[in-house]
Amino acid sequence: MNIAMLGSGFIGRFYADSLQGYRSKDKIVSIYSRKTESARKFATDYRVATATTNMEEAIARPEVDVVCISLPNHLHEEAVMLCVKHRKAVICTKPLGRNATEAQRMMEAVEQADIFNGYLEDLVYTPKFIKAYESVKSGALGRILWAKSRETHPGPHSDWFWDIEQAGGGAILDLGCHCVEIARTYIGKDIKPVEVMCWADTQVKPIEAEDHAIGLVKYENGAIGQFEVSWTFRGGLDLRDEVMGSEGTIWINGFLRTGFEMFTSGKGANYVAEKAESNSGWVFPVGDELNELGYNHMFADMFNAMESKQQPRETFYDGYVVNAILDAAYKSARTKQWEPVQLDVWRGRTGVTKDSHLDSYDDDHYLVKEEVTHYGARKWILKNKKTGKIIERVDA
Ligand SMILES: NC(=O)c1ccc[n+]([C@@H]2O[C@H](COP(=O)([O-])OP(=O)(O)OC[C@H]3O[C@@H](n4cnc5c(N)ncnc54)[C@H](O)[C@@H]3O)[C@@H](O)[C@H]2O)c1
Repeated sequence: MNIAMLGSGFIGRFYADSLQGYRSKDKIVSIYSRKTESARKFATDYRVATATTNMEEAIARPEVDVVCISLPNHLHEEAVMLCVKHRKAVICTKPLGRNATEAQRMMEAVEQADIFNGYLEDLVYTPKFIKAYESVKSGALGRILWAKSRETHPGPHSDWFWDIEQAGGGAILDLGCHCVEIARTYIGKDIKPVEVMCWADTQVKPIEAEDHAIGLVKYENGAIGQFEVSWTFRGGLDLRDEVMGSEGTIWINGFLRTGFEMFTSGKGANYVAEKAESNSGWVFPVGDELNELGYNHMFADMFNAMESKQQPRETFYDGYVVNAILDAAYKSARTKQWEPVQLDVWRGRTGVTKDSHLDSYDDDHYLVKEEVTHYGARKWILKNKKTGKIIERVDA
């Protein structure tokens, strides 16, 4: 694939490292950046043939197969519309829009133009997530009841994130978009998110947006997604998932504790990992950031899908659903009420009821719990189906 990269900053460079290093057959052929020197530097670092400060020029080049949007949030829509104008396949970083209205416009435009569209939600492509999700799909956790995802760090690296107009929001939008899509994928992307309750506050930073929030997303089948986000967390980049099902549990620490711990006095200190706050003392490096953060598997899925004329796992539609959930979270944080998720476009199932939680033990009883005690007794706690009385049966 010949790629036009829009944006030469933090994520543009992570993407470029992954794009040109992993499948080995993809090449960035044009780079757009706001400043000439940044575009030129990126072109030199990644051996890109053309560098420009004109976004449309970067997109329209005939050799470009796909456009990768790595721009600040307020520029995503403009970039997508230029891809539609020039009928170029487009993959866009997260969040898709600053809100669901923007995201819906982008989704409808690419779908009407019938161009390939991919939503670059890397955290559902991490090796740990992929393995965990396979277990969930195979039924190893039973019914998914609660899926929590946490992303917290000490705050973003560029000015525009801190400006609510350009960014569209604070930690909820910037980090919550990851958490919401992670929980939604565990619970089932065909299950409708119905309402959201969210607490948000600006606890530390001198900004208009929230720097800390916690939210609950209720799904039609009764499952709960939970997100925890912060731009004020000290100690690095904390990425964790917890999934609880009727038959099992998964805990994942995606970044801060990967099993790699190092002590250094600081002599010869270097980059440790994204958002690491220290490079001396005990530090927690990450073996292969591109892989641990999902970029490699994400681009493999995107480009394999494009080549085989299929949809990738994450499309603009997913970006739109995420934006709609986050819009409800913002509303709830203001009203302090559960707020409905407004989805004008819904392509999953509807009317999915809560599965029965009644597990029969025999004709007369439901099973509440079975346990072997420390003194060797086997116990069954049972509920009579007719009377409702709770009893225990003990096999000593
Ligand atoms: N894990 C992830 O998926 C992930 C991580 C970080 C950022 N992002 C997303 O990537 C996008 C870019 O974020 P970033 O961290 O690379 O930002 P950044 O500030 O490091 O880079 C932004 C790039 O956009 C260019 N640009 C063009 N017009 C601009 C303008 N008006 N203001 C500022 N920059 C302008 C800059 O030149 C720069 O190359 C955002 O949508 C962000 O949410 C995703």
